[in-house]
Amino acid sequence: MRNVPFFNYPAFFRSQEEDFRDIFLDVGRRGAFIKQKDLADFENCLASFLGVRHALGVGNATDGLEVALLAAGIRPGAEVILSSHTMLATAVAVHFAGATPVPVECGPDHLIDPAAVEAAITSRTQAIMPTQLNGRTCDMDALTAIAERYGLVILEDAAQALGSRYKGRCAGTFGVAAAISFYPAKVLGCLGDGGAVVTDQSRVYEHASELCNFGRNGRGEVVRWGFNSRLDNLQAAMLNFQLKKYTAVICRRRHLAALYTERLGSVPEVTLPPAPDSDPDHFDIYQNYEIEAEKRNELKQYLADHGVGTLIQWGGEAIHHLKALGFTQKLPHTDALFERMIMLPMNMSLTDDDVHYVADTICDFYGSRQ
Ligand SMILES: Cc1ncc(COP(=O)(O)O)c(C=O)c1O
Repeated sequence: MRNVPFFNYPAFFRSQEEDFRDIFLDVGRRGAFIKQKDLADFENCLASFLGVRHALGVGNATDGLEVALLAAGIRPGAEVILSSHTMLATAVAVHFAGATPVPVECGPDHLIDPAAVEAAITSRTQAIMPTQLNGRTCDMDALTAIAERYGLVILEDAAQALGSRYKGRCAGTFGVAAAISFYPAKVLGCLGDGGAVVTDQSRVYEHASELCNFGRNGRGEVVRWGFNSRLDNLQAAMLNFQLKKYTAVICRRRHLAALYTERLGSVPEVTLPPAPDSDPDHFDIYQNYEIEAEKRNELKQYLADHGVGTLIQWGGEAIHHLKALGFTQKLPHTDALFERMIMLPMNMSLTDDDVHYVADTICDFYGSRQ
């Protein structure tokens, strides 16, 4: 039996071990741990990769989202609309920025449904926070049109989408600001926690920098209440090294996605994410390969019994399912999706043969149940 783990952190480390060791020694010998040149270099490279003016390294994307909301001027008491199919982090950030997260339905592409956004707008709504989920960018034309019509701010949760594009423009560059995650499982992942806030607006960048530096401005004067959220210099150095190879990484993931499509595209019991290049408006980076499957739980068990790791995102709980946090929304489309969705292995350790094995195992599962 083949072993195809959902994610393989040791293999990820081994594949770049010598380079990581060199970077570690270089940074360590320079004693360059906090806010040093490597961080500034990475922030500059990240900003130019995305085509925005500013990138600010932060401790993680959850902090980044909160900072983005605060720096964009979202006020206590405001409502912020987000997809219920997102990480808890999106809602947590809104809550701790003093606003109320309003989860709405996602569409057939698993991304926030613009019609549901419009239907959820009230006099208290100040922002839309679309999650660029699974490495695909939302229909930003529709969301931007709604935001303009109602005078709302867009802040993107681009934690999963560095390098994903919609109509040629990168996720993270559509709204006032966005947050990106470098959690190890991300396509650009570091060896621990890390994140960034990106924005084109200098005023928002400065406000965000102050928030993350105890409220200190560039001259060291305390100008507001702030906290401490920084991307470690060592992590930044590791990330900058990986960013140089990032295009090839995306290319590999798109190849794997195309292979899944080739092998599973005609299996009637599963619905696949759009194949690479199937829609000229979208360039997807396949952070996750999230499919819909009939008899999902049995399939998951069957794959596990055959050595294939899978994951159901957010442990199978959408935001509106979190009753302990006071959510009361009824979102039947999202409920139905959460009964069917499952993520197949998608990572840089995955070989083409692994994909064939996963596909064969899925076909065996459904074949044996005809
Ligand atoms: C959609 C989404 N938003 C936010 C986050 C939070 O990122 P971090 O772990 O860097 O805080 C994640 C991380 O998994 C995510 O997937």
